[in-house]
Amino acid sequence: MNKPKNQKGISKYIKLEDYKVFDYEIPEIFMDFVINKNAVNVTTKLKLVKKNKNTKNLILDGTDILIKKLFIDDSLIEKQYYKQQKNNLKIENIKKDIFLLKIEGIIKPKENTSLLGMYESNGIITTQCEAEGFRRISFHADRPDILSKYTVRIEADKNDYPVLLSNGNVLKENNLTNNRHEIIWEDPYPKPSYLFALVAGKLNCVKDNFITKSNKKVKINIYVEYGDEKYVQHAISSLKKSMKWDEDKYNLEYDLSLFNIVAIRHFNMGAMENKSLNIFNSKLILANSETTTDEELERIEGVIAHEYFHNWTGNRVTCRDWFQLSLKEGLTVFRDQQFTADVHNSEIKRLDDAKFLRRNQFREDSGPTSHPVMPEKYQEIDNFYTTTIYEKGSEIIRMLNKLVKDENFYKGFSNYISTYDGKAATIDQFVDKILEHNKEIDPKKFKIWYKQNGTPKVKFKRIWDQTDEKLTIEASQSNPIKKNLYNDLPLIIPINLAIFCDENKTIEKTVVLKTKKQEFVFRNIRSHLQIPLVTYFREFSSPVEWESDTTFEEKFLILRYEKDFFTLSNTVKVFYKKIILCRLDEKPDHKIENKFISTLISFIKNRDINLSLLSELLSIPTFAEIESEMENLDPLKIYKTIDELNHLFGTKLKEELYFKLQEIETSLDKVWPEGKNERKLIETIWKLLLHSDDEEIKSKIINYVDSNSMTLAKAALNSFSRINCPERKIISNIFFNKWKNNSVVLDSWFSFNASIEIDEKTNSIEKLFENTYFDSKSPNTLRAILNTFVTRNSTFHAIDGSGYKYIAKKIIDFDKLNPIVISRFIKVFSRYNYYSEPYKSNMLETIKQIKKNKLSTNTKEVLDAIIE
Ligand code: PHE
Ligand code: ZN
Repeated sequence: MNKPKNQKGISKYIKLEDYKVFDYEIPEIFMDFVINKNAVNVTTKLKLVKKNKNTKNLILDGTDILIKKLFIDDSLIEKQYYKQQKNNLKIENIKKDIFLLKIEGIIKPKENTSLLGMYESNGIITTQCEAEGFRRISFHADRPDILSKYTVRIEADKNDYPVLLSNGNVLKENNLTNNRHEIIWEDPYPKPSYLFALVAGKLNCVKDNFITKSNKKVKINIYVEYGDEKYVQHAISSLKKSMKWDEDKYNLEYDLSLFNIVAIRHFNMGAMENKSLNIFNSKLILANSETTTDEELERIEGVIAHEYFHNWTGNRVTCRDWFQLSLKEGLTVFRDQQFTADVHNSEIKRLDDAKFLRRNQFREDSGPTSHPVMPEKYQEIDNFYTTTIYEKGSEIIRMLNKLVKDENFYKGFSNYISTYDGKAATIDQFVDKILEHNKEIDPKKFKIWYKQNGTPKVKFKRIWDQTDEKLTIEASQSNPIKKNLYNDLPLIIPINLAIFCDENKTIEKTVVLKTKKQEFVFRNIRSHLQIPLVTYFREFSSPVEWESDTTFEEKFLILRYEKDFFTLSNTVKVFYKKIILCRLDEKPDHKIENKFISTLISFIKNRDINLSLLSELLSIPTFAEIESEMENLDPLKIYKTIDELNHLFGTKLKEELYFKLQEIETSLDKVWPEGKNERKLIETIWKLLLHSDDEEIKSKIINYVDSNSMTLAKAALNSFSRINCPERKIISNIFFNKWKNNSVVLDSWFSFNASIEIDEKTNSIEKLFENTYFDSKSPNTLRAILNTFVTRNSTFHAIDGSGYKYIAKKIIDFDKLNPIVISRFIKVFSRYNYYSEPYKSNMLETIKQIKKNKLSTNTKEVLDAIIE
């Protein structure tokens, strides 16, 4: 394979195999920030200790920093002894082994639109250092294996920047002349530069506290923009729940007496785990049930937990290099998923996580940007904050937990923490610790999970010997992607299965597939069925796809016998898909459709069924779900078929749905988490009924747009998304007028409008960008519009290619402002190969056109992968 080269002929890729320890250690850093009107003066003193005695040079990372002066131990370094290049600083001929390097630099946060390094958001100065943002603030060996103790002085005008925050504890606070003030922060725990943070601005603080299990009082401060104080109670209670849970489950206690969270309006990602100063996207802090849906409340709770859990998995034990990113992210996702499962419903949580993984990670893994959980090379590490690193990484740990059993898992985990505390570790070391006292699993073989890409496929066949009462299950595994040599090696795959002998007799087992082909034999199986029925990967026990010899007749039986939420929802999904595929082929299978509808009716009538599960079972797949799994796609036809099915099911299930509606209506007012299942189901029911041309339901739903439950308000709004009627405009206006001054909520309105197909052209979408309330610096709003338009609005796929061209223009424009957001968004084109003509050619042409422009390296790397 030809590797891309830059002009000098050096490979652009950073490779895992090239890892080398840095020539110096930097045990201490002193930073001094003087915040002025248009710039920030940053003076950094690095204490350097030479490790590699053979070197006389020092190369530090640094981008877009104006250097004023450099000193070594207080003596000025003359210009001829250092060289500043675009992304680094090289100092030559250093004779000392231990010295203090002082760098005086100037940066301009106000001019920074990338939301990386130090930037301004609504007048607040803030930082984002992960992964490589620190080098835009000051020169440093900006890599996660350099751990230093930070002392930070911040000085600024008292009126403009009354609040000055950084990591750790406050050492000193002083008033200075000229209405200025200073504060000194000291973080006692050595940390890599990506965990550094600074915030300065007009913020209000909501205070609370938490008493740890060893009776230490931790002050909790949540900082928000003026006026937002009333929206932080949910964040505070989520944080306290997380702190308690980590003590109970993992025996991990918070290690400082202060924990700060800041909510920032302009933030690329969800949130960031900077040591003791977590910075959040406002939409993941500001919440109450009037402004936030149930799902969002749960997500916020989960993200707050996630960032808090990083304090041990990520901060105290950090990553050696960015190839180990999943060491902190996969593990922390695993922990936050466990947390949500423990505090809510574990079966529903498992169902949600499996659904998320299959929809997003499987899509990524079958496309051009597919990569192993431990990638072997990258150009821009920012492009690797993916669902593979996060969610597949978590699935691997879930399997590990399952394979070694809880007792060993938690013992191994504690050993891992105590061995690597204060250090930078690798994924290998983590797996070794968990498997240390286990003889059955070969660590080397298990680790192949980290090196393979692509979704593994498992095949099953049953062989039934009635006379001997013996059931044999033949299993085999393979990986569809051949390019990666590791993909040819067998994985260790835990399979949860159930054997149904009849309605009342089920055998549940976990078997472990370790080789390419393997037989599992079950004896003394007494079954009345023609052949015992088997369900595989219950609870989604491994992140794989599978195929079996189960017939559709048997699948109907599964829907009767199974109790596992995941298997039920997966089986239902198989039916939906089958029905959709037949219809796309213009050969509707009415027999299956009718039988399936009767099955759904019996689910609706079952009064014991979990209502979230029921909502899941009644949800006809969306375009995005179908898109991620099909080949030779005709997008407009898919949209049409899905609409047809909603109409059909809404009509056929009407009576039962109305009945259910009545039954649950009385629970809608309950306070989250109470009532959430009912509210989830109601959106599904409304949507189906609206699609059945039910006029009566319309006026009923409209009443909810103004509801004091955001879940119901948005459910009302969204259920109208694909219903072309005058009421749709009415409800959109009600929502807009109510929420136009709340930017977090208003993003839902932008999203809703981006889903509406008013005409065949993109004019109506352009109007959203022209709206006075559109803020071009807000990644949230940009994503709300762009993502919804491409996944829920068929205009994107206009047959003349105008939708693609329109989006291309947006990509080119916004890439100049914010490469991180655009390089992620551009993956919308990654499956062009799976589309039919003319869509495929139109998309390809568009991608080529985009490529002709001057793009960020982030976006370029993704585009290069899409069209090699
Ligand atoms: N580390 C953050 C998290 O998962 C995500 C993030 C990455 C945020 C890069 C900002 C920049 O929790
Ligand atoms: Zn994380």
